[in-house]
Amino acid sequence: MTSTQIQRHTPFDLPVFELNLEEFSDRQKKLIEFILMLRSTHESVHRSNCGGWHSSNTLYKSQEPSINWLINRLYELGSLCLVREQQIPPRHRITMPSCWANINESGDWNAPHAHQPCEWAGVCYIDVCDDLPEQSKRSDRDGNLLFINPIPFGHQYNRPPTVDYRPEAGKVFIFPGYLMHMVAPHFHDKPRISVAFNLTFSPIKPNEDRGFYPKRI
Ligand SMILES: [Fe+2]
Repeated sequence: MTSTQIQRHTPFDLPVFELNLEEFSDRQKKLIEFILMLRSTHESVHRSNCGGWHSSNTLYKSQEPSINWLINRLYELGSLCLVREQQIPPRHRITMPSCWANINESGDWNAPHAHQPCEWAGVCYIDVCDDLPEQSKRSDRDGNLLFINPIPFGHQYNRPPTVDYRPEAGKVFIFPGYLMHMVAPHFHDKPRISVAFNLTFSPIKPNEDRGFYPKRI
């Protein structure tokens, strides 16, 4: 059982979980090296990425030890968040049907999108610019994760059009798959590296490949 502190935010009255991965700093260097190596050997796929590199969505199949550690931690902590929020349907299990790495260089961004039909989505920051030096400070939202209000009445009703969160290395956000979001462009020489994933509820059927789940469960 993990002792990780999980915060539950409620932008627009919707759940957004925030947590920090324990022991991430021990793994960060290997994770960065592996993801940069992947980019050097694999073409980007095109999803919401505008300029950035996006890996295939089967990163969970990698046997690289640091990625394997990360996938297991994201599944475990994501599952903790999900069961706090809703019951698993009978004869179903939580699975991670897709997981991918992203690298955004200076000026890259991700267009607004949602992760349906998956019920839940998440992102973990592997390497980001923590200090936002003066030369890159085009915006105080540089590289932020922006959630878009599904009912944008406006500030006069205390309903801001967007709510954003600042990425930090080792930080994870988990949110409903239907919640529209985007990544603001960042303007720093250091690439912004993240790993995103989806979580869903899959029927328990033997011999079916429906994504990642720890085989001990
Ligand atoms: Fe996304």
